[in-house]
Amino acid sequence: MITVYGSINLDVVSKMTHFPAAGETVLTPEALPSPGGKGANQAVAAARAGGAVYMVGAVGADGLSVIPLEAFREAGVDMRGVAVLPGETTAIASVMVDAAGENRIVVASNANGRAPALTADHLAPSGILLMQMEIPYRSNWDALAVSKKRGAKVILNLAPFGPVDKELLSQVDILVVNEGEAAALIRHLGMDAESTEEKAWALSALGPTVVITLGGAGYLCAGKAGLIVGKALNVEVIDTTGAGDAFCGCLAAALDGESMPLHEALRFAAAGASLACTKLGAQTAYASKDEIAARISAG
Ligand code: RIB
Repeated sequence: MITVYGSINLDVVSKMTHFPAAGETVLTPEALPSPGGKGANQAVAAARAGGAVYMVGAVGADGLSVIPLEAFREAGVDMRGVAVLPGETTAIASVMVDAAGENRIVVASNANGRAPALTADHLAPSGILLMQMEIPYRSNWDALAVSKKRGAKVILNLAPFGPVDKELLSQVDILVVNEGEAAALIRHLGMDAESTEEKAWALSALGPTVVITLGGAGYLCAGKAGLIVGKALNVEVIDTTGAGDAFCGCLAAALDGESMPLHEALRFAAAGASLACTKLGAQTAYASKDEIAARISAG
């Protein structure tokens, strides 16, 4: 089982001709309310990719939670760990997507700030705990300790970047970051590494297997299994929102239920992330296990 501990947002996605400059108002014909949040996205991506997923997080007892909770239901995510908090507002993300499919996102954390503490009961003994950085950091670090006692493997997606120390990183099994997050982490830890590969090796020397996602260029992974480098699929990019989340969710699904070796799991994750860029929105674009497998076999 994969336990996802993290954020649950209502995304309001607007397709723009260009991003507004300071003081500028840009009109767009419509906005798409859709399920989002890095935690919820990863949970849904993992479930679509064939994983058995248990979500732990929080929403407000309000109308904004309807869309994200319905998305969990449709994907078959177990929601018994999701707290519905009276008097609290569900988190809202304003997502702007430009003509090239790039995005700018602002998240109002609201109920995510009161995500319930993770307990051993939320974890399968040899399962996976998948975390991101959109709930209070302290909650994540407490969850890390719980998961270690329980014998679960931890995948940490350090997105958005937040400060984490060497001791905490040493308890993480797989760290997933993009190039910006890798650079920020190297700076934060006062380490010295120039190239992407050097950054991956420097971080992996602290303990975890380190995966650096490279957008359309694929990924690079450094750890006990050596260096693994792979490509993304060649797709027409409509919107990159949530592609990194698709990568993490698919990786967890491939390593858990499917028990794929790491190099195959990474290829599966990269294919899932590529397909996630082919439609507007995050979860709305996620592919099923069969669709991902078919695209991999098609080459
Ligand atoms: O990673 C994409 C996600 O970031 C969006 O769904 C938005 O909710 C923000 O959390």
